Amino acid sequence: MRGTRSSPRVFTGGHRDGPAHVGLWMLRVVLLLLLLVLAAGVQTGEGCPDKCLCATQTVKCQNQDLESIPQPLPANTRSLFVTGNHITNISVESFPTRLELLTDLYLNGNQIKSVDSTVFDNLPNLSRLDLTDNKIVHFSAFPVNNTLQVLNLSSAFHNRLSMDAVLSVLQSGTLLHLTSLDLSNNDFVVLPDGLFAGLSKLTTLSLRKGSLIALQNGTLAGPPLLDLDLRDNRLREIPNASLAEFDLNPGLRVLLAGNPWRCDCFIEDLVLWLKDSTLAMDRQNLSCVDPGDLRGVPLLQLDPSQLECNYSGDMKGVLETSYVFLGLVLALIGVIFLLVLYLNRKGIKRWIYNIRDACRDHMEGYHYRYEINSDPRLANLSINSDV
Ligand SMILES: *[C@@H]1O[C@H](CO)[C@@H](O)[C@H](O)[C@H]1NC(C)=O
Ligand SMILES: *[C@@H]1O[C@H](CO)[C@@H](O)[C@H](O)[C@H]1NC(C)=O
Ligand SMILES: *[C@@H]1O[C@H](CO)[C@@H](O)[C@H](O)[C@H]1NC(C)=O
Ligand SMILES: *[C@@H]1O[C@H](CO)[C@@H](O)[C@H](O)[C@H]1NC(C)=O
Ligand SMILES: *[C@@H]1O[C@H](CO)[C@@H](O)[C@H](O)[C@H]1NC(C)=O
Ligand SMILES: *[C@@H]1O[C@H](CO)[C@@H](O)[C@H](O)[C@H]1NC(C)=O
Ligand SMILES: *[C@@H]1O[C@H](CO)[C@@H](O)[C@H](O)[C@H]1NC(C)=O
Ligand SMILES: *[C@@H]1O[C@H](CO)[C@@H](O)[C@H](O)[C@H]1NC(C)=O
Repeated sequence: MRGTRSSPRVFTGGHRDGPAHVGLWMLRVVLLLLLLVLAAGVQTGEGCPDKCLCATQTVKCQNQDLESIPQPLPANTRSLFVTGNHITNISVESFPTRLELLTDLYLNGNQIKSVDSTVFDNLPNLSRLDLTDNKIVHFSAFPVNNTLQVLNLSSAFHNRLSMDAVLSVLQSGTLLHLTSLDLSNNDFVVLPDGLFAGLSKLTTLSLRKGSLIALQNGTLAGPPLLDLDLRDNRLREIPNASLAEFDLNPGLRVLLAGNPWRCDCFIEDLVLWLKDSTLAMDRQNLSCVDPGDLRGVPLLQLDPSQLECNYSGDMKGVLETSYVFLGLVLALIGVIFLLVLYLNRKGIKRWIYNIRDACRDHMEGYHYRYEINSDPRLANLSINSDV
């Protein structure tokens, strides 16, 4: 901008003073060159990398097919967005120069397989790490002195097996400053006991859109949670122990909608709790999915007398028919056995006689041999060998 404005001034000046024309013309070229060099200096010195946009400590390199973090980044970068690219791993090599001020790192929508703890080596102030929509397989424990506060791992894992990696990172006890953790859109089915116990600052936890089938005693114990999102899982009830854990955080706001609640005797504690407590923000929106005659009934409108574990319709009937069937099969086997015995009665008789005869022959053989070996010197030997 400055260049285009200043050069016409030099040009008109050159026209006005004829003799100085050539000198001023050269001055103009020199000025232009100077401006170019300055412009280039701005580009390399403040260092906005190729394919990136830099503005007030924010660097955005989005949807550029990048395979690694662009270098060098401006030393004063605070927020870095390298989203929608093809990065496969991050480690200290991704950040070879120290970025003291970098606090927010967004790496959503890449193909990151490996997150190495050395990534923190040159990012001492990193507080927000967004790894949404990646394919993480390897995740190494973060260094003890990390300053991470917000960790977004929504839809971040390659498969169920690789999710174990993050569970051990969470349990490693190094996320001492973490306040917000997003584990939504992952396939967690159950979470181990005490998973969040070491996260002593965690206030916001999202487990939305997972596959959780149950909350275990102790899973949510520990952190001072204020916002807990359990929507859109596969919970069918919530046990008393977990409700008691909710109650330990009086400021908690929990969201529970979108779960297939089964309204039988096991959900009674939850129903009573919902009527009594205001912690579930969306308690008006929870309704039964099972059994058929209660489908769609809001949990808040249930009367405890409706909550029965009624097995007479299915379980008991199944058991009864299976007992009858077992009896029939046993009777049939017995009849067949008797029939076989009966048909073979002659053979069996013959067989018994044969055995009896064989025994008799054997005994007679003894007698015979005994008589033969009546020589006292041999008798001892013969008896020993028969025994
Ligand atoms: C990380 O990715 C870069 C770029 O694709 C690659 O050159 C490097 O070898 C990878 N490092 C590891 C440890 O996988
Ligand atoms: C982190 O950021 C603060 C200010 O934002 C700054 O004073 C400090 O030097 C940075 N580095 C470390 C290691 O704390
Ligand atoms: C953490 O400690 C290691 C050495 O123990 C050091 O190299 C690193 O810079 C430290 N990181 C932060 C964020 O302080
Ligand atoms: C994590 O990322 C998802 C998707 O971008 C977003 O909806 C969510 O709010 C983020 N969570 C946090 C804690 O920033
Ligand atoms: C659940 O807790 C409530 C209140 O603490 C108690 O009244 C109820 O008996 C408990 N239910 C079970 C099954 O322990
Ligand atoms: C849950 O765990 C705590 C601590 O381990 C224990 O005191 C409590 O009795 C358990 N509750 C149930 C219902 O198992
Ligand atoms: C309850 O559901 C309705 C309709 O789905 C939605 O508009 C409302 O925000 C929900 N309320 C809460 C507290 O989530
Ligand atoms: C229990 O099951 C029986 C037989 O299926 C049915 O007649 C009865 O209405 C059921 N009771 C309840 C409370 O659902």
